Amino acid sequence: MSFGNMPIANAFLEKSQFSTEYFFELAPGFCETCNMFQIIEQPNPEIMFHENYAFFSSTSKKMKSHFETMAMHYEKNFIKSDDPFIVEIGCNDGIFLEYFSKKGVQHVGVEPSQNVASVAQKKGIKVKNSFFNEETAIEIKKSYGKADIICASNVICHIPDLHTIARGVKYLLKDEGAFIFEDPYLLDMVEKTSYDQIYDEHVYIFSIQSVINAFKQHELDLFHVEKQDTHGGSMRYYLCHSNTQPIQDSVKHFLLKEKNKGTHLLGTYHAFKTLCEQKKNNLLILLEKLKKEGKRVVGYAATSKSTTVLNYCGINSNLLEYISDTTPIKQDKYSPGMHIPIKSYETFQQDNPDYAVLFAWNHATEIFEKERSFTEKGGKWIVFVPEVEIIE
Ligand code: TYD
Repeated sequence: MSFGNMPIANAFLEKSQFSTEYFFELAPGFCETCNMFQIIEQPNPEIMFHENYAFFSSTSKKMKSHFETMAMHYEKNFIKSDDPFIVEIGCNDGIFLEYFSKKGVQHVGVEPSQNVASVAQKKGIKVKNSFFNEETAIEIKKSYGKADIICASNVICHIPDLHTIARGVKYLLKDEGAFIFEDPYLLDMVEKTSYDQIYDEHVYIFSIQSVINAFKQHELDLFHVEKQDTHGGSMRYYLCHSNTQPIQDSVKHFLLKEKNKGTHLLGTYHAFKTLCEQKKNNLLILLEKLKKEGKRVVGYAATSKSTTVLNYCGINSNLLEYISDTTPIKQDKYSPGMHIPIKSYETFQQDNPDYAVLFAWNHATEIFEKERSFTEKGGKWIVFVPEVEIIE
């Protein structure tokens, strides 16, 4: 299936950059042999991750507590040596490693985007400013030795060459160590028709089956999984060197769920495509109706996900006046492709739009709570996951 021409999801731009904007065809595919759901054309990672990367992990309270809980969980259950060493692939602004750095635990974050890496470094976190691959793993081992834990959150699905990751992990991980990562989960995407998970950075949307197949070639076993509610439905995968851990029931349990939903069948994605088209039509019908009624509609949170929705549906500033976002690097720029102005959060707070489309639907609970005054003043939320609807 194809979502058409897409810009880079996090490439918020100035007016002067409109004419040179980069586009690629966003077309996911599914392989019935290896069970991988992935985008076919993958932009070069250097176009996406650089010194002006616009995604900062520490923008949500919920995510901060998610990462702290995760750090405590790993510390308690997966650190077995007296002098542990932790590697995080894609440490962003240090939201996870902060916990270990404060405790004086040996660590290194590997982060290709210099601007977010600098924020982490300012917090005292050790950062290697590069992409993670086999060569990086060799360099890290030379400087620090082997790792007890290699982890990554919302990162492994960003890396086109999974083989270099697997080889790097295999080389760098202690014999009894764990490779733990989490990413948006295919089953959630299919169940919620949350097609906005598909964008340039998400080269893969993993399932349990596809993770098993990808890593077993490198003698890494998936021994445990844990469902997460972050990013609209994620899965955390625990891997180890082959035959070093018993395979837990959690793996069997979710494999069965995947089978029941048919995530291993091509037909499931044909049905998914039809549902995406229906959702697109429903959202456009609603926004066009509100425009005819003279209502003011804005967007809330200029997420990466919103780039897919806006460009696939063809929603521009005729239908959406602006999008408010708390990230300074996005503000006063324009959204990728559709060129909707991005305004500060304060603009939204002082404004009284009639409707706000919630692009950060994965943070709905936190945002609805925070924005009580918007609804008290008569504002209404529009959501599009799992269905397009106005929240009354
Ligand atoms: P997220 O869903 O993590 O985005 P992505 O689709 O890129 O993974 O949401 C992060 C973005 O949402 C970030 O640009 C900041 C913005 N945001 C707000 O503007 N206000 C908020 O209250 C929250 C939670 C996020």
